[in-house]
Amino acid sequence: MTKAQPKPQNEKNPEREWFGERHVSPEEKTGLVHDVFASVADSYDVMNDFMSAGVHRLWKDRLVRMIRPRSDQVFLDVAGGTGDIAFRIRAKAGPDTAITVCDINPEMLRVGRDRAINRGWMDDFDWVTGNAECLPIPDASVDVYTIAFGLRNVTHIDRALADAYRVLKPGGRFYCMEFSRVTEPMLRRIYDAYSYSVIPKIGEIVAKDRDSYQYLVESIRKFPPQRELETRMRAAGFDRARHTNLSFGIAAIHEGWKY
Ligand SMILES: C[S@@+](CC[C@H](N)C(=O)[O-])C[C@H]1O[C@@H](n2cnc3c(N)ncnc32)[C@H](O)[C@@H]1O
Repeated sequence: MTKAQPKPQNEKNPEREWFGERHVSPEEKTGLVHDVFASVADSYDVMNDFMSAGVHRLWKDRLVRMIRPRSDQVFLDVAGGTGDIAFRIRAKAGPDTAITVCDINPEMLRVGRDRAINRGWMDDFDWVTGNAECLPIPDASVDVYTIAFGLRNVTHIDRALADAYRVLKPGGRFYCMEFSRVTEPMLRRIYDAYSYSVIPKIGEIVAKDRDSYQYLVESIRKFPPQRELETRMRAAGFDRARHTNLSFGIAAIHEGWKY
């Protein structure tokens, strides 16, 4: 992954998308993101613990506490990767809960399925390969839609929001957990220094893959901050769009309802 200088933004060429700091075509971005997660799939869970010192687990627990899952609800975890959110939903809601894990990358789903089998949860999930922008899921069929650390990797965020709205039942809820904008200026400077210098280094040492983790850091910078994402959720049709900051905005949970 070569790093090029960012060019002035998309108004001139709306067909271009960001891939980290690079300006690429939408097709290229989808392919490059696919390659990143195919490459990190086997080290993904270990790396999450290393990079966040385990804090991502607390954030994910918080998300699932907010959802308060019940076994009579239908869950869809998009960009579900290796199953972290789906497993927590399963643990809270119990067996016989309808949980689908959808991800564009079969390698990530393979790791997730193996982890589920290791827990003795052989048939507790539907593992589906699909793109968040055009989900292979019927209209109005889902009670709770989750997407954790996935939306920033999607090529067209607004299409993914619109498709989330489509698959939700009336009364259904949307939850997005994503890296966001640190609210404290001093902490932001420390966090920027940590993420730009330390995370790619950890990627190089632990996962032997500096470039993928460089992409991760750069993609966080490009993701819309809290209020902007709320505005885009409203534009997709969601009511009561709001967010909850985690760790001073390092991450945030966005929530919306379909009425
Ligand atoms: C950072 S991982 C998050 C995995 C999991 N949700 C978690 O919290 O641990 C991002 C996931 O998004 C998936 N992804 C990227 N673009 C996608 C898209 N357009 N549609 C569905 N999944 C996508 C990747 O394959 C990857 O598994």
